[in-house]
Amino acid sequence: MKFFVDTAEVDEIRALNETGMLDGVTTNPSLIAKSGRDFKEAVAEICEVVDGPVSAEVAATDYETMSKEAKVLAKIADNIAVKVPLTVDGLKVCRELRAQGTMVNVTLCFSANQALLAAKAGASFISPFIGRLDDINLEGSDLIADIRTIYDNFDFDTEILAASIRSVNHVSQAALIGADVATVPSSVLWKLYEHPLTDKGLAAFVKDWKSTGQSIL
Ligand code: G3P
Repeated sequence: MKFFVDTAEVDEIRALNETGMLDGVTTNPSLIAKSGRDFKEAVAEICEVVDGPVSAEVAATDYETMSKEAKVLAKIADNIAVKVPLTVDGLKVCRELRAQGTMVNVTLCFSANQALLAAKAGASFISPFIGRLDDINLEGSDLIADIRTIYDNFDFDTEILAASIRSVNHVSQAALIGADVATVPSSVLWKLYEHPLTDKGLAAFVKDWKSTGQSIL
């Protein structure tokens, strides 16, 4: 499973990129607003930091304007994935961009039928929002499983990009089901490394090695 980080904070992206675990980045208008930065400048900088796909979302909701915005975003860098909402106009733009060879991430997906429509529109990625379904007492991971089944039934190339991830459990659930990608807040990505028994075991190894008085170097 590929790991994308869900942020527009370049420093967070640089730090994670140094671990070698990072396969891409997703942003959205809320994350851009939170960063306080110029949208196109921030996205251009992110595209220089990581080699993998960088999702940059259109702001409009009508076909004509989304189509114009998408063309501007696609020109920022070769690794841009234009993000469009899962609407009638959003999927029309998706078809148009895919015909031009531009990566498209269809976002705000909350049902299997929506994901089916996105795959038929040729989406590169579909972003089902796990956390927001959990927030209303639905099981977000069930949606990932349903999409996995449907995409495998019809051999769709669209990659399932599990989004709205709030915990390390969401990451393992997505991986167990077979999501292709998880886009994860940086705080949660760093937590993936952590386990108290690893810390305890390592401390014991260090202590016991020290007692030997030896050095490897
Ligand atoms: O990429 C979508 C993600 O940023 C949404 O997360 O926590 O706002 O539901 P959240």
